[in-house]
Amino acid sequence: MLETAEEKSVASLTVRKLEDALKASLRVRAAENGRSVEDEVRMILREAVGPSPLSPPPTAQELAPQPRRVAASAGGRARVTLIIGGGIAAYKALDLIRRLKDRGLHVRCVLTAAAQRFVTPLAAGALADDRAYTDLFDAQSEFDAGHIRLARDTDLIVVAPATADLLAKMAQGHADDLATAILLATHRPVLVAPAMNPAMWSHAATRRNTAQLARDGIHFIGPGTGEMAEANEAGTGRMSEPITIAEAAGALLRPPASLRLYGRKVLVTAGPTYEPIDPVRYIANRSSGKQGYAIAAAAAAAGADVTLISGPVELPDPVGVHVERVEAARDMLTRVEAVLPVDIAIFAAAVADWRVAEASTQKIKKTTDGQPHLTLTENPDILATIAKRSVDRPDLVIGFAAETEHLIDNAQAKLRRKGCDWIVANDVSPETGIMGGDSNTIHLITRDGTESWPAMHKDDVAAVLIARIADKMGKGDA
Ligand code: CTP
Repeated sequence: MLETAEEKSVASLTVRKLEDALKASLRVRAAENGRSVEDEVRMILREAVGPSPLSPPPTAQELAPQPRRVAASAGGRARVTLIIGGGIAAYKALDLIRRLKDRGLHVRCVLTAAAQRFVTPLAAGALADDRAYTDLFDAQSEFDAGHIRLARDTDLIVVAPATADLLAKMAQGHADDLATAILLATHRPVLVAPAMNPAMWSHAATRRNTAQLARDGIHFIGPGTGEMAEANEAGTGRMSEPITIAEAAGALLRPPASLRLYGRKVLVTAGPTYEPIDPVRYIANRSSGKQGYAIAAAAAAAGADVTLISGPVELPDPVGVHVERVEAARDMLTRVEAVLPVDIAIFAAAVADWRVAEASTQKIKKTTDGQPHLTLTENPDILATIAKRSVDRPDLVIGFAAETEHLIDNAQAKLRRKGCDWIVANDVSPETGIMGGDSNTIHLITRDGTESWPAMHKDDVAAVLIARIADKMGKGDA
């Protein structure tokens, strides 16, 4: 059979033996044109040699961008590339693969070298829809699905866990391994779920890097606050739960109008209130704000326009939520009223019931006259004030009931007394660990009856509550 001139050239040329820079630019060109590297070389040689009587014109098939192998294998499903970083939270990435697939997403995994110390590519590949990718210069994928192809053949990139080191590399634009090369080459949305020791998360370098990444348009989910995987470590830095990350990934992938709370305005209160005694002292309570923050995050992930009025807490602003911080109950009420009208109002704050009638403008000093006498006066009830409004009453008003005894009876009485539609009741006796803890056991009290939920992480309680709200507000299933 007669060989064309360029076929002779290609036959004597081993692409793999080309210098790295040349190979890299060939890979970029090939990916951009949707061809294999060999076809790209063939096209370049054809252009260089020019029309020859011996060379048949390129076929339409050769000229056309080749169908993307992976896109076709995704069977019409949205595709997520999950980059697993190297941290103890990497074990949760395996659950995340399942959660993403539960949402009907096509999942492909990339593991950093450090991640492979915690989970194996075999396990990630077995759970995902494709083998796991680990090397920038992978013999199996070098020409077919190199980092440029991996960066493009996806609809969303999720980085979980995103370690301090990985965030630093992303902020600096490093590309010295497959994960960072993909992150640098992609034009797709990127969602990162940071996970690290609290000291690393609060370090000035990490603060700088995350601020830079936020400016670059990177989406963040978490980190949460709580017990760390390492013994005796607690604080902010815990990776968000897989179900929450999957929910955020789903929200980034879905067209907003299909989200269940799209177009709804939601108001959430959270945290304690601080009631001043004098300029340095205040009355407060043990609320951590975690449940209210999780609800605000879940509502935003469901497409709602969310305002969170928060008392003083140590939590980062949830993704996509407008946060206003206040201290005292009366300020909280003023801000809540300013946000109206809303469709749904959820009052998760542990508002102080009393304040000092006349807070001192000067620090109260010890005197020989004995103890200071503080006169307490009742704070306005924010929930009841909003639930009983005749103008601009939200369609759905939800209160919380924090009880230490007769949980259901007290909560039902609270529902009637305050005029709200639902009460989310929980037992906050110290032995339950709910106040300040990460999990919650809920009884949802409506005018139709009481529903008891199993003990769940506060993020999961939030996700279920928001799903129930969406059912009630009458939008179709997402
Ligand atoms: N709440 C409020 N404003 C207040 C007190 C409570 O908005 N001044 C709201 C809380 O946000 C919660 C609900 O009312 O949604 C119930 O709070 P809880 O502390 O359980 O009840 P209290 O009204 O304080 O009643 P009690 O202390 O007698 O249990």
